[in-house]
Amino acid sequence: MTPDLMDAGAQRLQAHARQEAARGGKTASGGRAADYGRPIAPGTVDVAHGRILYLEDVHVSFDGFKAINGLNLDIAPGELRCVIGPNGAGKTTLMDIITGKTRPDSGTVFFGSTIDLLRHSEPEIAQMGIGRKFQKPTVFEQLSVFENLELALKTDKRVWPSMRFRLDSQQRDWLAQVLHTIHLHAHAARQAALLSHGQKQWLEIGMLLMQAPRLLLLDEPVAGMTDEETARTAELLLGLKGRHSLMVVEHDMHFVREIAGAQGTVTVLADGSVLAQGTLDEVQADERVIEVYLGR
Ligand SMILES: Nc1ncnc2c1ncn2[C@@H]1O[C@H](COP(=O)(O)OP(=O)(O)OP(=O)(O)O)[C@@H](O)[C@H]1O
Ligand SMILES: [Mg+2]
Repeated sequence: MTPDLMDAGAQRLQAHARQEAARGGKTASGGRAADYGRPIAPGTVDVAHGRILYLEDVHVSFDGFKAINGLNLDIAPGELRCVIGPNGAGKTTLMDIITGKTRPDSGTVFFGSTIDLLRHSEPEIAQMGIGRKFQKPTVFEQLSVFENLELALKTDKRVWPSMRFRLDSQQRDWLAQVLHTIHLHAHAARQAALLSHGQKQWLEIGMLLMQAPRLLLLDEPVAGMTDEETARTAELLLGLKGRHSLMVVEHDMHFVREIAGAQGTVTVLADGSVLAQGTLDEVQADERVIEVYLGR
């Protein structure tokens, strides 16, 4: 910025401050000037610009190896986005960046239009409404399905189970609803260790849902599932679409077809950036995608 422009800007700000002082702080926005940023209540995500997640020109290197290399991506509120691509493309690293586990070397990562995720820690990002499911289920095996979901509501897990936690009626209703969503209502009292691999995956999705996330990131959710479990997981995720925004990384193309449908957007990552994006039919017909991922 040139010194002239800086002077002009400083003068505008001073003039603005004088006007504010003259009004005695009584403005239409309750004393908050609209051009100093839209006031957002804590815990809310501003999606007025039509994006829940926005990444621009993100770079990450591990010992000189460019795992993410100029990545641009955005997701609309309520969208279910599938991300595919070869091993090592950077799909898991992308989730690590969004959740604050890995810090990019450069680039922009926003949650809604006001929350700069690069300024927040991993626990803060989870608290703000980004839930993540890793490939391996991490449920508490010795606890029941119900207890796992109950535990997921607690913010401070260190004191559990020394201090009993009582659900209020609203939380009970929510828990019952989640049990239905994840197809485990008939197994609420069952010990998690006795569930099938697929059921454990659903329970973990349920644990994320207990915290009512705005955005859910799922890394290979159907790996190791039976065909029937895979089909039910597709149903489950389609039921979440609209109410939550989802980013799903998968290698199983039948499953991707189920959840993306004919219209959903599929992003193909390769070598740390977006190689192609479009409907599944479009990306499957793309020569470059066939070359690096789908094979001939
Ligand atoms: N913490 C790390 N340290 C060093 N290299 C890493 C680290 N994390 C990821 N990488 C490398 O970055 C590249 C991208 O890895 P990433 O796990 O994101 O790929 P992916 O697309 O999830 O692959 P897959 O489909 O096999 O899960 C890989 O070459 C990986 O070895
Ligand atoms: Mg991965």
